[in-house]
Amino acid sequence: MIIEPRTRGFICLTSHPKGCEQNVIDQIEYIKSKGAIDGAKKVLVIGASTGFGLASRITSAFGSGASTIGVFFEKPPSEGRPASPGWYNSAAFEKEAHKAGLYAKSINGDAFSNEIKKQTLDLIKADLAQIDMVIYSLASPVRTHPDTGVKYKSVLKPIGAKFQNKTVDFHTGVVSEVSIEPAEGDDIENTVAVMGGEDWKMWIDDLKSEGLLSEGFTTIAYSYIGPSLTEAVYRKGTIGRAKDDLEATAFTISDSLKALKGKAYVSVNKALVTQASSAIPVIPLYISLLYKVMKAEGIHEGCIEQIQRLFQDRLYSAKTPIDDKGRIRIDDWEMRADVQARVAELWKEATTETLPKIGDLKGYEKDFFNLFGFMVEGVDYDKDVNEIVEIPGLQ
Ligand code: NAD
Ligand code: NA
Repeated sequence: MIIEPRTRGFICLTSHPKGCEQNVIDQIEYIKSKGAIDGAKKVLVIGASTGFGLASRITSAFGSGASTIGVFFEKPPSEGRPASPGWYNSAAFEKEAHKAGLYAKSINGDAFSNEIKKQTLDLIKADLAQIDMVIYSLASPVRTHPDTGVKYKSVLKPIGAKFQNKTVDFHTGVVSEVSIEPAEGDDIENTVAVMGGEDWKMWIDDLKSEGLLSEGFTTIAYSYIGPSLTEAVYRKGTIGRAKDDLEATAFTISDSLKALKGKAYVSVNKALVTQASSAIPVIPLYISLLYKVMKAEGIHEGCIEQIQRLFQDRLYSAKTPIDDKGRIRIDDWEMRADVQARVAELWKEATTETLPKIGDLKGYEKDFFNLFGFMVEGVDYDKDVNEIVEIPGLQ
């Protein structure tokens, strides 16, 4: 079959195996071009199939020669229907890892559940004995609590007051006003239950109590801050409360790792086009202006460049630099005063008419389609793709 992008609103319903494979190969080549990183050797990546988690898995494997176990929640292909992109990414990653002689296995299922945790622990016991790093990179709209069975849904809402600002539909380029009603009822606690730190802590507690963490063990999760422009919907909104909770959990986990001389970190990463961020109002307009400015300055990065720099210059540097809240900052170039001042100016000028010139809508769109394996250089999209792609190390 010939696979074409089919979009509905902010999602793409199809994905291209060859395009996803090419994306992974490009990321691997990038990591190899940057040289070895003296990092962890046995790594568990939770949320390993797309975005920052995939980049972390690639950097661990091809930068540090690490054995990796990846956990993710992806849809396998079926007759006449492509898989979700994370499936194809993981298949490509494992194929390349195995070719390079690296251990790589994967588990597909709900990381929030007791079953998937147990399956992962059993695999570590059988194959790796202990691990020295856990990367926690889940992004999910829902979580079923493993103990109570309660299903929580996260929301992206401001807190306290209605939010009104500009946004763009990046498919049409139309800039319009959005207004989002403030959180109500259990919105805040539900969002914290999904995207806060509880599940991260559960993973580390389980691994620790089974003796699966080596001395000097490290774990890292990812957060976001962003500018005042997006503050009301992001950092001071419901999702921001979840990130506050995640960041606070790093300290709790670090305390629990003292005997092991271990440590939990949160890294604040740059705003990037992912499936999750495309769905947040206002963020696509911000990103399209940010990309324009950062590209003009020669400081634009994607997930792989961010994680390479995070590992090389922060996590595995002689002394890991942190901010006054104990966080690693790899959003430093996004948050540079000159960059933010320029974005704020452009924001005022942004209309449907001006945006194609002052913003990087084309870059946004390309990144969005790239997530699904489309618009990737070097891929022949006129060629039939018929084989059902398997993930070689899937358990
Ligand atoms: P993503 O959507 O690309 O990746 C999410 C991963 O989680 C995928 O591997 C997916 O399979 C997995 N997943 C989702 N639900 C799951 C479940 N129930 N069980 C198992 N796996 C599940 O997201 P991303 O943008 O890479 O986000 C990762 C982290 O980085 C998040 O904490 C996010 O807030 C943070 N972050 C994102 C940005 C950004 O701009 N995208 C910026 C800074 C920080
Ligand atoms: Na991820």
